[in-house]
Amino acid sequence: MDFQNDFPILKSTINGNPLIYFDNAATSQKPKCVIDAVSNYYETINSNVHRGVHELSQKATNEYEETRNTVRDFIGSKTAEQIIFTKGTTDGINIVASAWAENQLKKGDEILITTMEHHSNIVPWQMVCEKLGAKLIVCPINPAGEIVMDQLKKLISSRTKLIAITHVSNTLGTINPVKEITNLAKENNCKILIDAAQSIPHFQVDVNNLDCDFLVFSGHKIFAPTGVGILYVKKERFDEMKPYQGGGDMIKEVSFEKTTYNTYPHKFEAGTPNIAGVIGLKTALNYINSIGIQKVSEIEDQLLKYAQESISKINKINIIGTAQNKASVISFTVDGIHPFDIGTLLDQLGIAIRTGHHCTQPLMKFFNIPGTARASFAFYNKKSEIDFFIESLKRAIKMLG
Ligand code: ALA
Repeated sequence: MDFQNDFPILKSTINGNPLIYFDNAATSQKPKCVIDAVSNYYETINSNVHRGVHELSQKATNEYEETRNTVRDFIGSKTAEQIIFTKGTTDGINIVASAWAENQLKKGDEILITTMEHHSNIVPWQMVCEKLGAKLIVCPINPAGEIVMDQLKKLISSRTKLIAITHVSNTLGTINPVKEITNLAKENNCKILIDAAQSIPHFQVDVNNLDCDFLVFSGHKIFAPTGVGILYVKKERFDEMKPYQGGGDMIKEVSFEKTTYNTYPHKFEAGTPNIAGVIGLKTALNYINSIGIQKVSEIEDQLLKYAQESISKINKINIIGTAQNKASVISFTVDGIHPFDIGTLLDQLGIAIRTGHHCTQPLMKFFNIPGTARASFAFYNKKSEIDFFIESLKRAIKMLG
């Protein structure tokens, strides 16, 4: 089955060559049904949600709230009220930092992260630590790019109040054992946030099974528009969260003397939201459901295996991130050649990859490199595209080496 027919952009040419899009970890392409859902919203029901008795507002509200149910089912949440719409993963993490961590942690408490975190799962915690006098603890990884679990166990103590960890590394592709880590968190009475930005498009993520406290992801990585994301919150945590932004929709009653707040999730959704984006997210998840996330995983596993085998045979290539358990991401360096030059030459041939530090500078420091070239695959990619990429990479190395 050629899924590329569902994605209009994949028919384009770049620099005279058919586009080969291997930058899916940065953002995924959008199927026609998602593009249509967004324009259909603006063409037929554009209006604000939760605010009007008129027909359009009711329709928009229904579509918007229906997305909450779709997300609930997609991630296995018990209720739709536990689904908060955000701007994306970064926003979700910052909400937990401001609304939960800032009023639950105190001086001397610890937040545990790992060496492989994205900047968005480092900086918000540094800000919390600075504000409260808490401490950021970093669990080491091994040279393959896997968490050193013995170290992680040792680093968890009675001071640890939160573990914030990525499910899949955006740079290395490592799939972390988050279920095991969630169990460790529970045994030690600390809370856990899972950054699912890079796992949600690739395999089944089930919050009920994981039993995590918070889970965040972005719509745009899972074929939905940019500017929309999800924060899942375990029910018990809501009582510990204070609203972090004031404004419309998050209130029950306002007077100059006192304001009372709406119930969750609305309490954490101040202001007019990204309605079109939320509706686009529903369509994207339904699209994935129609294929089956299991099928998506199978296709991507094959692509990853195929690409890794071919790329590792090329002289001068070093794969960065060789974990046992990996999602469809290959980061690599080439001896004596800057990743930027590789990326530029491949772009001339229509191949889009990402180069640089991938918002993981501490991880680059661990590997003692300035950056990598990164190819990341989605289920709509093909082995024939990988063949062309490998041939092009060999040509680029010959020219630049
Ligand atoms: N975090 C995204 C990436 O890895 C943007 O490219």
